[in-house]
Amino acid sequence: MPTMTKKILIPAIAVVAGVAAWMLTTGENHAAEITVYKSPSCGCCSKWADHLRAGGHTVNIVKVEYMGDIKEKFGIPANMESCHTAKVGDYVVEGHVPAKDVEWLLAQRPDIKGLAVPGMPQGSLGMEGRYKDPYDVMALKSDGSVAVHARHR
Ligand code: CU
Ligand code: CU
Repeated sequence: MPTMTKKILIPAIAVVAGVAAWMLTTGENHAAEITVYKSPSCGCCSKWADHLRAGGHTVNIVKVEYMGDIKEKFGIPANMESCHTAKVGDYVVEGHVPAKDVEWLLAQRPDIKGLAVPGMPQGSLGMEGRYKDPYDVMALKSDGSVAVHARHR
C-alpha cells in the first residue's frame, strides 16, 4: 500500500470504528445481554426473563441446581437474596428488579456492584398477581453495604 493511502485509510478506519462503538454505547434503549441463573423449577424467574426479552434485551438462561452457590459466587448479601441472580455486564441483578432499573444501570454505569429486590414481592416484574406489595430496589455497594435505590409503591 502506498504510504499516502495508508495515511488516509488508517485514520478513516479509526473514525468508523469510533462511530460504531459510540452507536453501540449511546442507543437510547441500552439493549443489554443478560445472563439469568435460575433454578430449573422456578417459573417467576422465567417470567422476569420474558419481560426483559420483550423489552428488547438478549436474555440467556442458565439452569442451576444450587442457587446458593451462585449467591455466594456473586457476593449477594444474605438479606438481599431472591430467587434468580442475573449478570448484566459487570453488574449483578438479584431478583425481580424492574426493567427500568436494569436500564438505569446500563445508562448511568454507577460505581456499585448491582441492584437487588430481596424476597419476591407480589406485583414486581415477573410477580404479577392479584395484589401489589410495596417494595424497594436496593443498590448493592462495592463495600458490601446496601442502600435504597428506588421505592416502588
Ligand atoms: Cu421469583
Ligand atoms: Cu426468579
